[in-house]
Amino acid sequence: MRMHLLLWDVEYSLNIGLAIRDCYVLGDGIVDLMLFDPRGVAASKAEEVRRYSSYTMDHFQSFNTITDKERAMSWLETKRGNIIATVPDKDGAEDIMTFDFADGCVVMFGNEFHGLPTDIMDLADSKAVIPMRGKAYPRPDSTGKIVGIGKQRCLGLSACVPIVLFHALNKMGVYHGWNGT
Ligand SMILES: C[S@@+](CC[C@H](N)C(=O)[O-])C[C@H]1O[C@@H](n2cnc3c(N)ncnc32)[C@H](O)[C@@H]1O
Repeated sequence: MRMHLLLWDVEYSLNIGLAIRDCYVLGDGIVDLMLFDPRGVAASKAEEVRRYSSYTMDHFQSFNTITDKERAMSWLETKRGNIIATVPDKDGAEDIMTFDFADGCVVMFGNEFHGLPTDIMDLADSKAVIPMRGKAYPRPDSTGKIVGIGKQRCLGLSACVPIVLFHALNKMGVYHGWNGT
């Protein structure tokens, strides 16, 4: 049983570190974490990432980084048929509670501000959404401009990763008892 997580162009070292910790704690030996990192955050903020991962990074063997977009897309091409985009918009997406996560699937997560770009969304075979109740409200974006994107306020990346991961692994039947053994 294998599952891949692809984090696309994540900007904050905190989110990278927390994702490593989630993958290690919930899915060590089953989950591979791939980071598409064109900004080089994992290298330039290596010590922060390590600290935010609570040093699980020193034990998690399945963390890889790609900085080149062509290479990231070629890697994705090899997974065609089993690529899932996580989206904060329910239109055309299936609820993760009923989603059928299959062995070998790639689950993609987008940038904190922009989500997944269109060309990467086009490579996805399906879309999965975590149901949400909170409505959108006007708020300042990173430049201070007041925005109110969409109809719904979405979750932060660091919340989405463990929610999806836990549901997917549970659905794949990897947990037998509280400690997953
Ligand atoms: C903060 S969100 C990006 C918001 C961006 N404005 C957008 O519309 O995609 C960062 C990432 O978290 C994930 N995400 C956020 N809320 C989600 C939800 N309810 N269900 C599934 N994934 C979600 C998606 O992978 C998204 O690309």
